[in-house]
Amino acid sequence: MKKNKNYVDLKDQPVPEGQHLLEVDDLKMYFHTEDGVVRAVDGVSYTLDRGETLGVVGESGSGKSVTAMTIMGLISMPPGKIEGGDVRYRGRSILEMTEEEMQHIRGNDIAMIFQDPMTSLNPVYKIGKQVGEGLRLHRGYSKQEALKRATELLDLVGIPEPEKRVNEYPHQFSGGMRQRVMIAMALACDPDILIADEPTTALDVTIQAQIIELMQEMQEKNGNAIIMITHDLGVVADMADKIMVMYAGRPVEFGTADEIFYESRHPYTWGLIRSIPEQAIDEKKPLTPIHGNPPSLMNLPEGCVFSPRCPYATDKCRKQRPERVVTESGHYSACHYSGDPEFLKNAPETSRTRKDSKKGGEA
Ligand SMILES: Nc1ncnc2c1ncn2[C@@H]1O[C@H](COP(=O)(O)OP(=O)(O)O)[C@@H](O)[C@H]1O
Ligand SMILES: [Mg+2]
Repeated sequence: MKKNKNYVDLKDQPVPEGQHLLEVDDLKMYFHTEDGVVRAVDGVSYTLDRGETLGVVGESGSGKSVTAMTIMGLISMPPGKIEGGDVRYRGRSILEMTEEEMQHIRGNDIAMIFQDPMTSLNPVYKIGKQVGEGLRLHRGYSKQEALKRATELLDLVGIPEPEKRVNEYPHQFSGGMRQRVMIAMALACDPDILIADEPTTALDVTIQAQIIELMQEMQEKNGNAIIMITHDLGVVADMADKIMVMYAGRPVEFGTADEIFYESRHPYTWGLIRSIPEQAIDEKKPLTPIHGNPPSLMNLPEGCVFSPRCPYATDKCRKQRPERVVTESGHYSACHYSGDPEFLKNAPETSRTRKDSKKGGEA
């Protein structure tokens, strides 16, 4: 493959001994607005290795997109400001990179599929040009070569008649097809890490399943890591290796998918599990949404940020911020009672039947 001759791809460098492909370490990104400080990301930590999928789950406004955009170096500063922490990619701090270095990283090493494909595709350029743009920029492809590869990529993501479609414009594509174009664009340069921000939210269930399957096929082939952002825990139930549950800018629970589904320790995660429709149907349990709304990130409640909505909250919860309770495997939960076996009996039954209910469905 052609390369920009003056640049050594970071993705070709080994991950330093004892480190991970991506390490997000107590990351804090605040927005300084006229009305006050918005604590959009307030202490996010996780690690990710090649071939792994991380699910980032939480209600709207919990800081999922801002976390991803910070990793991509796409937050305008000001109003944004890094208040602490670090993001290391293959051992190098992304936060210390120059804009020129970041331009090489974006699309080439770390690529993102954005929430809204219509605003992310440029309406005035043909699809082929947009899909091939990264190859021209990062790989030194000629116009002809980029168009040829763009055609192959459209074929790869299951777009019929790719030779014809490369010469069409975004408005000539359906929602599902546009989402496929976004995936083709994101995969063009073989990224090490693919960040997908609610890539299926606007799509119907069948297309959703196809898009997720496509991302997984690509991952099997390329060995890249995936960060899948969603407000729906059900979406990542079967695809994620690890899951971070976010609430009001903070991770409230992090663990392997099995830990999150079978041994979850945070009442907010329990609420998310109880609001997955399939689980409710399979288990003949009522679907119970979490009552109330997330707090304003400018004016967080004292104590545990989830306490105003938590059915188990005590005086201690309303007064004192909980520390993370971490297990030996690295499963952590920010709840005062996460270490109390009696309290954990409140976890929903459904959380321990993820695989079983799936098998039942297929039989
Ligand atoms: N440029 C900005 N200025 C001020 N606040 C912002 C800005 N961008 C995002 N926010 C705020 O950061 C919070 C987290 O947003 P976001 O990460 O988009 O949530 P999610 O993706 O989980 O729905 C929200 O309260 C949002 O209003
Ligand atoms: Mg978002």
